[in-house]
Amino acid sequence: MAWTAHVLTLFPEVFPGPLGASLAGAGLDKGLWTLSVTDIRNFATNRHRSVDDTPYGGGGGMVLRPDVVDAALETAKRAQPAAKAVYLTPRGRPLCQDLARALVAAEGLILLCGRYEGVDERVLEKHALSEVSVGDYVLSGGELAAMVVVDSVVRLLPGVMGNAASPKEESFGSGFGGLLLEHPHYTRPAVWQGRAVPAELQNGHHAEIRAWRRRQAEAMTQARRPDLWRVYSGEDDTGGRET
Ligand code: ADE
Repeated sequence: MAWTAHVLTLFPEVFPGPLGASLAGAGLDKGLWTLSVTDIRNFATNRHRSVDDTPYGGGGGMVLRPDVVDAALETAKRAQPAAKAVYLTPRGRPLCQDLARALVAAEGLILLCGRYEGVDERVLEKHALSEVSVGDYVLSGGELAAMVVVDSVVRLLPGVMGNAASPKEESFGSGFGGLLLEHPHYTRPAVWQGRAVPAELQNGHHAEIRAWRRRQAEAMTQARRPDLWRVYSGEDDTGGRET
């Protein structure tokens, strides 16, 4: 079976969104991966079809009910028993290229998108969900985060990138230890509005081109991402992980 992303959301209409375009969308059309989207509201049981309730302890906002989320997760797990279940939340493990590589190795993902203040903690505990964040900022819900996770994963599936350059060469790819930002790119014309393509790229010497690209990647990383640079240059031997 193709790698499957199964999204649980209160806003199913936003999918596939950008996942239906470009390389991810072409991969979806070719059946290289599949997307299924379930409306959490389908699992509401009361007359008002309510999915949320006020938080214990007071405070603003609403919390997604454990019974409703549980029913949605149980159904998704029955359909995909080997999939990894993920809850998108700013308190989760930050998404990085290594995590995307780990997730593509899973048999598929069930992605729970929260809204409002969050999800009742007990249902997260019961299902031992892995929590993933897409960055240190707060989105209005998990949907955009789920799209980011799925996009970062499906482009690693065989065939999805097509003839596009190897993912090894891009930022955080496995080239140069996986720690450098990508070098700049150029296409024709050789001179555009008075700006020339660097001579090193025009000479066609493979080794020279590779050395130039590495120097550029190093300079870019040193200037923009001192955190990555410290790991790459060996100043920080924790591999960038918090200790
Ligand atoms: N939901 C809201 N903000 C989020 C974030 N930064 N990452 C993942 N899920 C979220």
